[in-house]
Amino acid sequence: MTPEALAALHRAAFATERAWSADEFRSLIDSPHCHLTSDTHGFALWRAVADEAELLTIATHPDHQRQGVARSLMQQWMRAAARTASTAFLEVAADNAAAIALYGQFGFDVMARRVGYYKRADHAADALIMRASLPPT
Ligand SMILES: CC(C)(COP(=O)(O)OP(=O)(O)OC[C@H]1O[C@@H](n2cnc3c(N)ncnc32)[C@H](O)[C@@H]1OP(=O)(O)O)[C@@H](O)C(=O)NCCC(=O)NCCS
Repeated sequence: MTPEALAALHRAAFATERAWSADEFRSLIDSPHCHLTSDTHGFALWRAVADEAELLTIATHPDHQRQGVARSLMQQWMRAAARTASTAFLEVAADNAAAIALYGQFGFDVMARRVGYYKRADHAADALIMRASLPPT
């Protein structure tokens, strides 16, 4: 997937967040320790440093949601990350029920909350920091 395609899919999937530009994706993909896991209708961007992995973002195109795309991406990136990392982290808005349910299926638990972190048009949503253990491969 090109940086332009990633930016277009990100813009389509994230209704309430700022869209990431193609240049931002290019720079992330080129940065050390950053990895892209993708298929036709979705992608996960993550990084692994030392013993820890972090999911930076994951998205499925709205026309292809609820078809197991994100589940497959989670399986792939967590399996790859487990080669070097033992713990995975991510951050998610507390009002993003779909993503929280997805992460719960993969063993992520809330370890911290940043109150009012995400500014919306008419309110602020908390950010949840979630953590999961990665099984040794
Ligand atoms: C969150 C997101 C990536 C899920 O992608 P998806 O491909 O539709 O997810 P899947 O079909 O693989 O679903 C896997 C599990 O996620 C959860 N899930 C996905 N969409 C859901 C929804 N709309 N409501 C509740 N749970 C949902 C369910 O637990 C689901 O398992 P189930 O089908 O057995 O119930 C997708 O909704 C998306 O791109 N959202 C916008 C971007 C975003 O919020 N990314 C996360 C930022 S931290």
